[in-house]
Amino acid sequence: MPTALTRDAAAVRADRRTLLLAAGTIMTVFAIGAAAQTAWVYGNQGGMVPVGTRILANLTAVASMLVILAVTGVSLPQRGPLAVVVGVLSAGVTASGVRFAFQLLLDVYVDPSQQVISAELASGAVVAWIAATMGLAAMLSQRRLRTEVAERAQARLQIELALAALQHEEVRVRREVAEGLHGSMQQRLVLVVARLDALVAELGEAGDRRAVTAEDVALLREVREQIETVREADVRTTSRMLYPEQLEVGMVPAIRALLGRIPRSVNTRLGVSDEVRVVDDPADPRLTRSERLLAVRVVEEAISNALRHGQAEVVDVRVSLVGDALEVRVSDDGHGFGDDAGTPSGTARLADRLRLVGGDLRVTSVPGDGTQVVALLPVESIRDAAL
Ligand SMILES: Nc1ncnc2c1ncn2[C@@H]1O[C@H](COP(=O)(O)OP(=O)(O)OP(=O)(O)O)[C@@H](O)[C@H]1O
Ligand SMILES: [Mg+2]
Repeated sequence: MPTALTRDAAAVRADRRTLLLAAGTIMTVFAIGAAAQTAWVYGNQGGMVPVGTRILANLTAVASMLVILAVTGVSLPQRGPLAVVVGVLSAGVTASGVRFAFQLLLDVYVDPSQQVISAELASGAVVAWIAATMGLAAMLSQRRLRTEVAERAQARLQIELALAALQHEEVRVRREVAEGLHGSMQQRLVLVVARLDALVAELGEAGDRRAVTAEDVALLREVREQIETVREADVRTTSRMLYPEQLEVGMVPAIRALLGRIPRSVNTRLGVSDEVRVVDDPADPRLTRSERLLAVRVVEEAISNALRHGQAEVVDVRVSLVGDALEVRVSDDGHGFGDDAGTPSGTARLADRLRLVGGDLRVTSVPGDGTQVVALLPVESIRDAAL
């Protein structure tokens, strides 16, 4: 696969080729055409015109114009308009001077008048300028076409990346939900069913002879507790995994709900700027569902890392607007991490998703001095309003 560097070098070569080919062809047509026309005009008047030497002198103008265009590098993309104008002007002046020198050398003119000298020099330069300008125009239109093709390819690549990320995310969520359902929830339900079976069997065997004892009631209570656990811990956790609580109402309510589930031993703080309250107003929400979801996922991941890896006791969440982006900042007072940190996984997935929407995620930490996560998430409606 070509690298960006070889692609750039190939583009530079293609530009130079187009410029020289177009300018050279146009100038050659002029060179031969002008000599033929002079021969025809003078021939009709009965004069003798050295056509071959005229063409030869004209072709030296073509060659010198091409050399100057190549040497001054007017086809290079980094050349500014001034450098291009200077390059084209000097190509014209050089071509016209070289051509006239050859005309004298090849005896096209013997002792020319001042008028002839001026006319030859001016016409040579003007023709070279026209040819060089047309060559430049051809090169620029080719460059524009190339940029358009590259932009289209880049856009296609972005879409493919976004789709791949979505598919990856979907597979991960499906797997986690399946594991949640299959793992703990199923085990607990199996246990509950076994206990209920035992109780039913015992009561069935005893028939009417046996009264319900305190032990039976305790067992039934225990079974009830377990069903409650399944409902609270497993079903709700799995459901939250799919969609955070309160997200329909807004991003801030969803973050608040998330913080509300953290054990009381951890001190959590939430700071939301007034501008964010406006864009997250439930009556007039300006954040899309995916923007809200992504912002909440950032807080979720940062908090889960703070508690799991950093054993933090204080977690501070701040949401503000920076330009057209939402800035989500989560700081903790945990152990922090250095070079011994695990391979980025949850944070890397989030960073990928943020990058795909033009955002960014940074995690900074000083061992022993907490961790800070800063996510920037562009808000489409603010950006569109600014356009
Ligand atoms: N707040 C934090 N405190 C201490 N260490 C952290 C913190 N956040 C991240 N780390 C370190 O950075 C590593 C990478 O974190 P990341 O969230 O990317 O992956 P993970 O938490 O290990 O896996 P996953 O997010 O998929 O469960 C962690 O393993 C941990 O060593
Ligand atoms: Mg993590």
